[in-house]
Amino acid sequence: WPVQVVDCLAGKIAVGETLTLKGWVRTRRDSKAGFSFINLHDGSCFDGIQVVADGSLPNYETDILKLGAGCSITVSGEVVASQGKEQALEIKAVAIEVMGWVDDPESYPVAKKRHTFEYLRTVAHLRPRTNTFGAIARIRNTASQAIHRYFHERNFYWVNTPIITASDCEGAGEMFRVSTLDLLNLPKDDKGGVDFSQDFFADEAFLTVSGQLNGEAYCTALSRIYTFGPTFRAENSHTSRHLAEFWMVEPELAFADLQDNADMAEEFLQFVFKAVLEERGDDMAFFAQHINPGAISRLENVVSSQFVRMDYSEAIRILENCGKTFEYPVQWGLDLQSEHERYLAEEHVGRPVILMNYPQEIKAFYMRQNEDGKTCAAMDVLAPGIGEIIGGSQREERLDILDAKMEALGLEKNLWWYRDLRRYGTIPHAGFGLGFERLLNYITGMENIRDAIPFPRVPGSAQF
Ligand code: 4AD
Ligand code: MG
Repeated sequence: WPVQVVDCLAGKIAVGETLTLKGWVRTRRDSKAGFSFINLHDGSCFDGIQVVADGSLPNYETDILKLGAGCSITVSGEVVASQGKEQALEIKAVAIEVMGWVDDPESYPVAKKRHTFEYLRTVAHLRPRTNTFGAIARIRNTASQAIHRYFHERNFYWVNTPIITASDCEGAGEMFRVSTLDLLNLPKDDKGGVDFSQDFFADEAFLTVSGQLNGEAYCTALSRIYTFGPTFRAENSHTSRHLAEFWMVEPELAFADLQDNADMAEEFLQFVFKAVLEERGDDMAFFAQHINPGAISRLENVVSSQFVRMDYSEAIRILENCGKTFEYPVQWGLDLQSEHERYLAEEHVGRPVILMNYPQEIKAFYMRQNEDGKTCAAMDVLAPGIGEIIGGSQREERLDILDAKMEALGLEKNLWWYRDLRRYGTIPHAGFGLGFERLLNYITGMENIRDAIPFPRVPGSAQF
């Protein structure tokens, strides 16, 4: 393997050493004195490294002077101290070999100039070559690794829950159907409905909206578990916060209540932000400079201060009395809309807020009913600029109360196995789901969730 730019810039390669680097040209600048500066990057870190190509190289006229953004090259050379102020070292090339030219540089879709994010979504296969999307990809990786590390260090086991499932965890009916039936020739049952017994799984099957219910089965055996994988929602939302396919992190903690759950969410987010600040200073500096001036400072503030915790009922009082007019109504019993969540986190508090104890009616069946009989032990973490990034709850561990709710919704047939978790050695437990792409938008300051995942799936498009 060739040496990588990240290792050179980190000082792992010393002045005087010879090496071979492979990568892509970011820019080329020619000096009047008959040599050229090439900025070579290989995606291993934000910055590229400066390569000095002397006019005496045998292919200087034929190759070097034709190099442009995107051409792939192999550089053999010597590490020397740089004359320029921008970098400490550079590579004095002994040989440069072109691996791949860019055909028609004029029409190279990600040629070095300003492109809108809308445009770059139409070339999602090439956008990772741009500064912005390279930086997002590296931050995404660092955040993923930090998530695994956070749980691993606390004895949580990573459980791989199924992608194909019969259960609608959230009960919102937003599932993609999985079927091998011929859509134009559906088999009929006695009542004239579709006969799913002839389908691959001999019943209806869907892509999962959440791994939680399966996660609970492992939590009630291993105590601490988490899932981290893709989830799917067929909600027809054309917003900057919704994807049809997104990644969710779902820890489930045994012998825990809502306060423990909120503590975990807070500590977890701080841990991940800290890791990104420490490990991806180069990429974060780019976001602070070009996307959101407060990108770094707001993460630092979150790491060093406590989250505000507030009851849903208090949030309603604040929203009713804040004097602002909202598009959607505010009233006890109604769900909060993104504009309300953002007002609370951005304008009222200025930091992440954990809202707790929502009305039962607007929340999922598995959430634990509170003593007042009206609210449940639900929590949402609201982030400034985004709104909800985490949704979670203490789970209903009392079989009689769970049964009543499941019966009312007709869930007992499909979820008979979920009842068993309460029939045999039931325990108090709690967990949450973090939308990974919403977290990345919060970290980077990127506004659209379609830019936080490599290949976004949204209504109307599953291209690439
Ligand atoms: O609030 P949600 O629906 O909660 C659950 O799915 C629970 N089963 C989680 C749990 O307790 N284990 O979704 C959790 C999070 C949201 O807070 C949001 O960040 C994200 O998932 N999310 C989406 N992200 C992108 N696109 C969508 N369509 C999303 N829907 C939810
Ligand atoms: Mg939610």
